[in-house]
Amino acid sequence: MNIENITVLGAGTMGHGIAVNAATAGYQVVLSDISEEAVTLGLERAAAFLEKGVARGKTSAEDRDAALARLSGESNFSLAVAKADLVIEAAPENLELKRRIFSDLGRDCPKHTLLASNTSSCSVTEMALASGRPDRVIGAHFFNPVPIMKLLEVITTEHTSAETLAALKDFALRLGKTTAVIKDSPGFATSRLGIAIALEAIRMVEQGVAEPGDIDTCMELGYRFPMGPLRLTDLVGLDVRLGIADTIFSATQSAVFKAPELLREMVAAGKLGRKSGQGFYSYSDS
Ligand SMILES: NC(=O)c1ccc[n+]([C@@H]2O[C@H](COP(=O)([O-])OP(=O)(O)OC[C@H]3O[C@@H](n4cnc5c(N)ncnc54)[C@H](O)[C@@H]3O)[C@@H](O)[C@H]2O)c1
Repeated sequence: MNIENITVLGAGTMGHGIAVNAATAGYQVVLSDISEEAVTLGLERAAAFLEKGVARGKTSAEDRDAALARLSGESNFSLAVAKADLVIEAAPENLELKRRIFSDLGRDCPKHTLLASNTSSCSVTEMALASGRPDRVIGAHFFNPVPIMKLLEVITTEHTSAETLAALKDFALRLGKTTAVIKDSPGFATSRLGIAIALEAIRMVEQGVAEPGDIDTCMELGYRFPMGPLRLTDLVGLDVRLGIADTIFSATQSAVFKAPELLREMVAAGKLGRKSGQGFYSYSDS
């Protein structure tokens, strides 16, 4: 199927990045959110990203202008999705909210529209069933910053049609992504592996086995991780990682995903990582 019009729901960290990536790749993109203010903020962040690309010599002024011309905002849900060939949902990580959104999408989108979720850990199957068109629903898990990160983790459910998967792979290719196809399961591949290592690293800090810096150095130099698990947890946000751990633990009951008390205490104390200035490391620039 031919995809030309994309709607991105949720204009936050991920949504504005997906919008930039798709508009740069030549798609017509509508960026949507729950308020005019949130849409405007998302469009401003998208423009700022493109501007930075020009300043750094990565994007030409012509390409920036062409991408901006393909990008528009719309806070009215029905209008935002009315012409979409593909909707990418990037709203907060809450299954109930996502179920509601997919039910509304099933009601308001044209029959042919494909529906993708950027969820990190929620059940794509649940969203597919809520939509009333489960064959056209798929997970499209992007990474931050979206225009730069090469991976698109594609999540299929038992209902996802071969046509939907093929269309999403074509879309990913045009965005310059490499895809990995994973069956819908708790944590998919990236969250399942990434969280397992991060939680073990946190348990090691909790048990006094080593300092955070030494644990990260082991993985960075010993295993060639570009960033150790604790530094990465600070970057992603301790609260975000705790939320994902709890979701995977409640789905699997596996002790591997039981969040250490230290993580819970740090989140409760507002030590959320880079964004709060303090996590496993201190940051003076935030
Ligand atoms: N931040 C990351 O590094 C990252 C990476 C991969 C996937 N994700 C996933 O992407 C999704 C979005 O994460 P984020 O970090 O961009 O969050 P965010 O909080 O930065 O942005 C979420 C946006 O969704 C909007 N929103 C709330 N309710 C909405 C609704 N009903 N319809 C449309 N928009 C709505 C909010 O106003 C906000 O602007 C989550 O599912 C998250 O798990 C995040």
